[in-house]
Formats: sequence, structure tokens, C-alpha cells
Amino acid sequence: MIDVQRFDRADQVIAAAADAICTLLAEKPEAAIGLATGRTQEPLYAELLRRHRAGEVSFRRARCFHLDEYWRLPETSPQSMSHTLQAQFVAATDLPAGRFNRVNGMAADPAAEAARYEVEIRRAGGIDLQLLGLGTNGHIGFNEPGSPHNSRMRLVQLTAETRAQNRDFFPHGATVPAEALTMGIATILEARSILVLVTGASKAAALQAAVEGPINAACPASALQSHADCTLLCDAKAAQGLKGD
Ligand code: GLP
Repeated sequence: MIDVQRFDRADQVIAAAADAICTLLAEKPEAAIGLATGRTQEPLYAELLRRHRAGEVSFRRARCFHLDEYWRLPETSPQSMSHTLQAQFVAATDLPAGRFNRVNGMAADPAAEAARYEVEIRRAGGIDLQLLGLGTNGHIGFNEPGSPHNSRMRLVQLTAETRAQNRDFFPHGATVPAEALTMGIATILEARSILVLVTGASKAAALQAAVEGPINAACPASALQSHADCTLLCDAKAAQGLKGD
């Protein structure tokens, strides 16, 4: 079952997520954290940086991974997910450069890169806390509807809906990549704890399906119902479709 925690506003969701990360790092400074990208997570990184600058949290002994990466986008590209995380967050913290494990979207062989990254996660002892957002179509990472719940990290095709939603991150006239490397659903479920952030009315239907719908491949996020320690933080707008209390 997913532990759904509702808040009135998005800023309260962000504060609760930052609290969870700071608590984890206070208890386990060497924790491995899986970072996610997207509009929902951006204020979380800003809040964590604010707390870091205030001396409230250190990432010095932590390790970070990321969920997914566009295929064939160099990590120097501002749209690459590892570049975004590096620029928005990691570079401004005290996390040593070598402790941010990056997916290489330019690797020669996607299957080999996916396998290498899974080994990196295992060598770090697994992920303690995996951050997730939710796609309007129920995707987690870039696991689009239809993704098997036993999927591992792999190259995937992005749906037209997902590409359209991420269009604004790219300069006018640029092509949004059609493929990405993403942690698989099984990879995500191996994290010891999962923290999902969902805000805004556009996510209401996906949130309802993820939390209250059947566990099936049509809704990748429904797989989270089978995780033993998954918390979903949402605002009132995103929660408006939930039936049960
Ligand atoms: C993106 C990412 C996900 C993200 C989700 C929601 O395409 N691959 O990791 O969580 O879609 O993004 P947003 O927060 O911008 O709505």
C-alpha cells in the first residue's frame, strides 16, 4: 500500500520531502539517494540548497544516482538530466563530484550502459531513498504505460505525450529525444524507500490510478502499491480524484 500524505499546497509537499531527506541523512550520512528531474522536483532541490547553505544538511558522505537520461544527448547539453541535476543541485552542495553517479546518454551501447549503471547501484549497496515524480500518463522515470513491472534499466521509446510535456525544456526548433535510458520498474522497487512527489491538477487522474487503481502495466506507478515503504506526498489539487480516505 502507498502511504499517501496530503497537503493543502505544493510548498508544504516540498517542505515534507526536504524533511524526509534531511532526516535520512542525519540518521545515515552515507545514504544513497536516487534523484528525479522534472518541474515538480525543482523546488525541492532549491529548498535542499537553502537548508544546505543554512548549515542544516550535508551531502558530503552521501551518494546520488539519477533515474533516467535522454539517449544521445551529451551530458554537457543543458537538457540532459544529469546536467540539469548537476547544475541545479549537486554542484552547489558539498557532495564530492565522484559521488554523483551519472548515466551516460552517449554511451556506445545502451544495454551495456544500463547494465553498468545497475552494477554501480548494487556496488553502492542499493538506493536508500528514491525520489519520483509522476507523469500525467502514470509513468515513473521514463517507464511509459505498458512497461513490465519486472523491467530493469534499459533503452525505451518515449510517448508523444511525454515528449510534448518536456518540449518546453528544449530550445525552440530543437527535437526532443525520442528515446531514453531509464531505471526499470523493478530497479526502482529495489530502493529501500520511495518518496513520490505529486502536485497540480494535471496529475489528479494519474494519481488516482496509481494509488487506487489495479496494479497493472497500463499504469506503471501502480507498481508502487507493492512496495513495503513507499510514501506519496501530494497537494490538494493532485489529490482531488482520490476516492478513499
Ligand atoms: C518526466 C521524468 C520523470 C518526471 C515526470 C514528471 O518526463 N522522466 O522522472 O518525474 O516526467 O515530470 P514533472 O514533474 O515535470 O511533471
